[in-house]
Amino acid sequence: MTLTIQPIDPARADFAARVTGLDIADGVSAETAAGIERAIDRYGVLVFPDQNITDDQQYAFSTHFGPMEQATGDINQTERRLSLDINDISNLDKSGQVRARDDRTRLFGLGNMLWHSDSSFKATPAKFSLLSARVIPSEGGNTEFADMRAAWDALDPAIQATCRDLICEHSQLYSRGSLGFDQFTDDEKLKWAPVPQRLVRRHPGSGRLSLFLSAHAGGIQGWPVPEARMFLRDLNEHATQRQFVYAHRWRRYDLVMWDNRATMHRARRYDHSQPRDLHRTTVSDSGPTLAQAI
Ligand code: OGA
Ligand code: MN
Repeated sequence: MTLTIQPIDPARADFAARVTGLDIADGVSAETAAGIERAIDRYGVLVFPDQNITDDQQYAFSTHFGPMEQATGDINQTERRLSLDINDISNLDKSGQVRARDDRTRLFGLGNMLWHSDSSFKATPAKFSLLSARVIPSEGGNTEFADMRAAWDALDPAIQATCRDLICEHSQLYSRGSLGFDQFTDDEKLKWAPVPQRLVRRHPGSGRLSLFLSAHAGGIQGWPVPEARMFLRDLNEHATQRQFVYAHRWRRYDLVMWDNRATMHRARRYDHSQPRDLHRTTVSDSGPTLAQAI
């Protein structure tokens, strides 16, 4: 089998590609993994169709790309359905039942419908996320991806200059709080104390600059809060215009891999009485963004 990498939309040569000609269940060589990393450096989002994999196979594939992150971003759950190596992106409880409408874990999970970059609320945020579709609803529930390098390139030069050295404060307390989900335990408040992140990053694999936005960003160091939030809101509006967005319509056993340093993503609505079960592995970045020169 030969690895084939093709842009999904021929009109958009540098964002979102489909990768075929490999069987992730069988494991991949270091050379194939290096080819995949070169591809994601260019495209930001890669779709691997027809990969019917187990959690262990998904994890083994993910380890080619860097140190693995644990699924510690969830709210405290007494009954995890999946191991801490796997982020449970589903609406299911431990017994596999669809969660009730007012279930706290379900409501927390609705935060994924806000545009975000994974784990930007952690001091060292995520590098890559890999999301495997095990069960999908009959309609809806797309995942959308926005190209933060293209968004940066298209930004007015005066705004680019304003952004360049800004440092934002990121916390899940902000993203969830914006949905009215604000009943946090003292433990959760401590665990999610805001962390600083650069607003502009240089993407190492492409050398391009990128906007590092996320629903978790709730302030800018040195700025009054309302002004910071309004500025971030404007940037988000700019960066998520349709010309920067690829909407992924899931098929069962798709694996989608994205670069959180150069993209944002969000889940879209679906019928919450239907099961939707996706499993995510996450590769962490090399360190805090403040330590990375732009
Ligand atoms: C994620 C995520 C979106 C979705 O897995 O990190 O935000 O569509 N998922 O489930
Ligand atoms: Mn996410």
